[in-house]
Amino acid sequence: MKVMTVFGTRPEAIKMAPVVKELLCHSEFDTKVCLTAQHRDMLDQVVDLFHLPVDYDLDVMKSGQSLYDITSRVLMGLRDVFAKEKPDYVLVHGDTTTTFTAALAAFYQQIPVAHVEAGLRTNNLASPFPEEANRQLTGVLSVLNFAPTETARANLLREGKDDGRIFVTGNTVIDALFHTVQEDYHFEDREIENIESHKRVILVTTHRRENLGAPMHHVYRALRRLVEAVPNTEVVFPVHRNPLVREVVEEELEHIPGIHLVDPMEYEPFTNLMARSCIVLTDSGGIQEEAPSLGKPVLVLRDTTERPEAIKAGTVKLVGTDEERIYQEAYQLLTDEKSYKSMAEAVNPYGDGKAAKRIAEALLYVGGYSSEKPSKFIAE
Ligand code: UD1
Ligand code: UDP
Repeated sequence: MKVMTVFGTRPEAIKMAPVVKELLCHSEFDTKVCLTAQHRDMLDQVVDLFHLPVDYDLDVMKSGQSLYDITSRVLMGLRDVFAKEKPDYVLVHGDTTTTFTAALAAFYQQIPVAHVEAGLRTNNLASPFPEEANRQLTGVLSVLNFAPTETARANLLREGKDDGRIFVTGNTVIDALFHTVQEDYHFEDREIENIESHKRVILVTTHRRENLGAPMHHVYRALRRLVEAVPNTEVVFPVHRNPLVREVVEEELEHIPGIHLVDPMEYEPFTNLMARSCIVLTDSGGIQEEAPSLGKPVLVLRDTTERPEAIKAGTVKLVGTDEERIYQEAYQLLTDEKSYKSMAEAVNPYGDGKAAKRIAEALLYVGGYSSEKPSKFIAE
C-alpha cells in the first residue's frame, strides 16, 4: 500500500513524525513523505530531530506569505507529485492550509484521504481562523478519520461520518512527547540553562492569526506587569518567526528584565523547558495537549478551544486576550498555592503514546492486510 504523508508546518511535522516512523516499520507500506514547507526552518528542525526521510519538498514558504500564496503553491505542487506517485492513500494532519490543500489536491485525483487528528471542532469559523474551516473542509474530503479522542469521534458522527471509518487513536503528539522529555535535562542555550532553580518560569508562545495586532499587544503588556509584580518569576518566550508576531514582541517586550525572548526552540529543549516551567501561557493547539501530560497549568490566550478535554480535567483554562484578565489569572496561579495545585495535576486526556501504532494498524485493517481492528484509545 503506497501511503504518502504530506505536511508543512512545525506542529504537523511533530505530530506526523511518529506516524511516518511507524509506517516505516511495516513492510506492507511503501511510505513516501512530501513536505510542502509552508514553514521552513521551524519545519526542518523537526525533520532533522526525528530523522524523517523526505521524498519531495515543495519549498513553498515566503516571508509574510498570504493564505492565497500557500494555497495556490501547494495545490499546484501536489498536483504533479500525486500524478507521478499515484499513492493509494494520502495522509494529512490537523488543520493548516497545507492540510486542507493537500486533501483537495488528492481529492481532485480521486486519491483517498486519511485525516490524522480528525474531528476537532469549535464550530466557529472565525476562531481559530482559518483552522476551523480547514479542519471541517478536510473532514468533508476524508474517507478515513483518525480521531484523537471520543469527543472528536462524537463531532464526526454528528456530521454524518460513517462510524466504521472513524478510529479513536489518541493524539500522536503524546507519542512524540514521550520520546523527548527527560529527567535532569540540560539546556544548550546558556540563557535558559542559567535561570536559577528557585526562579519560576512562565513559558509563553503566541502565533494565532486572529490574535495578530491589538490582542497580542494586550497579552504582552500583561506579561510585563507579571514579571514586575511577582518576585522570582521569569518569562521565557520562544518567538514565532512570523514577522507580524516579532514586530509586536519587539515593541512591547524587548529589554525588559526577567523576560527572555528566544528564537523558536527545537522540540526537545522546548518540551523539557515546558517540564521545567511553572505555568504556560499560549494560543497554541499542540501545547494545550502536551502541558497537561506534564502537570503544567495552561492559560489559553484564545476565546475558543477545540480541545475541551483538559479544560474538563481542570488543568487548562481559556482566558482570552484581555490584559487585565490574563494578569489576574496568572497572578493568582503564581501567588496562591491552592489555586496552583488545583490546576497542576498531571492528566492524559489526549493520548497514551500508542496513537501512531493504532493508525498503522487501522490502515492495514482497511487495506485488507490484517483482520484485526486496532484497539481504541481510552483516556485515563
Ligand atoms: C501556520 C498555520 C497554523 C499553525 C501554525 C503553527 C495556516 C493558515 N496556519 O501558521 O494553523 O498553527 O502554522 O506554527 O496554515 N516563518 C518563517 N519560518 C518558518 C515559519 C514561518 O520565517 O519556519 C514566517 C514566514 O514569514 C511566514 C510566516 O512566518 O510567511 C507565517 O507562516 P504561516 O505558515 O503562513 O502562518 P503561521 O502563523 O505560522
Ligand atoms: N514547539 C517547539 N518549539 C517552540 C514552540 C513550540 O517545538 O519554540 C512545539 C510544541 O511543543 C508543540 C508544537 O510546537 O508540539 C506546537 O506548534 P505551534 O504552537 O506552532 O502550532 P499549533 O499547535 O498551534 O498548530
